[in-house]
Amino acid sequence: MRRFARWIPQNLRQLDNISCVPLRSTKTSVGAKDVDGASFQQEAVLYVHWPYCEKRCTYCNFNKYISNAVDHRRMRDSLCTEFRTLHSLSHVTRIQSIFFGGGTPSLAEPETIYKVIETVKDTVDLPADVEVTIEVNPSSTEAAKLGAFKDAGINRVSLGVQALNDMDLTVLGRQHTVEEALRTLDICKKLFHGRTSVDVIFGRPGQMLSAWNEELQQILNLCDDHISLYQLTLERGTSFHKDVMDRKLMMLPANKMADLYEAAVQVLEDAGFSRYEASNFARHGAESSHSQAYWQGMQYIGIGPGAHGRFVPKAKNKTVREARIQTLEPEPWMYEVEKYGHATRRAVPQSQLDVLQEILMLGLRTKIGVPSERWLKFSHGPTLDEVFNNTYMVKLLQNEKFLILDDKGLRTTAQGLNVVDSIMPELLNVMDKYFELMQPKALNVS
Ligand SMILES: C[S@@+](CC[C@H](N)C(=O)[O-])C[C@H]1O[C@@H](n2cnc3c(N)ncnc32)[C@H](O)[C@@H]1O
Ligand code: SF4
Repeated sequence: MRRFARWIPQNLRQLDNISCVPLRSTKTSVGAKDVDGASFQQEAVLYVHWPYCEKRCTYCNFNKYISNAVDHRRMRDSLCTEFRTLHSLSHVTRIQSIFFGGGTPSLAEPETIYKVIETVKDTVDLPADVEVTIEVNPSSTEAAKLGAFKDAGINRVSLGVQALNDMDLTVLGRQHTVEEALRTLDICKKLFHGRTSVDVIFGRPGQMLSAWNEELQQILNLCDDHISLYQLTLERGTSFHKDVMDRKLMMLPANKMADLYEAAVQVLEDAGFSRYEASNFARHGAESSHSQAYWQGMQYIGIGPGAHGRFVPKAKNKTVREARIQTLEPEPWMYEVEKYGHATRRAVPQSQLDVLQEILMLGLRTKIGVPSERWLKFSHGPTLDEVFNNTYMVKLLQNEKFLILDDKGLRTTAQGLNVVDSIMPELLNVMDKYFELMQPKALNVS
């Protein structure tokens, strides 16, 4: 019997905000070295969190708030101030891409988007061809703002279509119909040709494989060159969670979820999409450079309520990367930014093991995995081979054709990528054991 369950990959929670990666507690310091070299410290990508939504979707526990009295001017000024401050605390001289996520950033005023981009331009080097993405919800009011977003500097959109079935949209608590989603998609494709991504959720209650296959064909007929597939996950504190607990709704069993995921991979790959990350598919070179920067371990600055960041701060110590999170709620966040210039709630120095774990967790979900050069950029000593080779678990994964470890690096096979979330804890365990025994100093930060 297979040792590895068809525990299929879930889209990283708040991928653009990497909240899935735990902040580890700080331990005693012992001279950690430079994590990734000077030029790496000068480059980063920027995540901007817009925390407001029109209404809560039933399944979503992202950091979002419903308000009909958003103070746009204050939000705008605070975002710009926080960027300037966090930048001044970092070594960053160049921003490689910008992502406006949320919440629902398409509810922000185009002027806010413009001002943030201008502030970045005034502060650091911003390449002329930089990717600037905004997440868009498909309502008519937001569709009407798309041209203004483009004028403000947006050149890529991620549209939350979620389902091509009105009943499922209702269960998910979405504020749009299929028709509205398709109308908005049409406008997006005209304005952002080749740079429109659609978000689709699968594993909805009662979803059947045959209907999903038909839906996928429809999606293929209508979409542009990028698709993000989200497996519906049950999140505590949501009304969806309550309905499942009260047995009013039922989550699909894991094997059905796996069938739906594998069907989607097949259909999308047959249509020329490459699964460049477990949940992300692109064709014609439409891969998101912003997402790839995270997966490769690049620094990122996160501004806005609840935004996460990873960068080496100038003060304290020049070489240790910190995991940062900004204050969650918009009001206190604005208050702190106005008072202190930024609203970092927590900044935790990362040990070498913390950083390498992130490199593994993010890299292994991608098609290319963790190349040896990337690993060595972040590792102060042990090679991939030293950490992973000759362990029982890695041998088993190789024998079962889930994993490849060679001089190019560590990566999953296509079959392994289907179950990457199931094998990841095993590999993290291998890593923990190696570092505990062989590199205890790597558990510390300086
Ligand atoms: C947090 S939303 C932000 C963008 C925008 N507000 C939207 O809804 O499209 C980003 C993506 O996360 C997905 N998402 C949020 N909670 C989820 C969950 N519990 N399971 C699966 N996908 C989820 C959303 O459906 C959306 O596609
Ligand atoms: S899924 Fe998007 S629109 Fe819905 S509540 Fe979450 S952030 Fe808001």
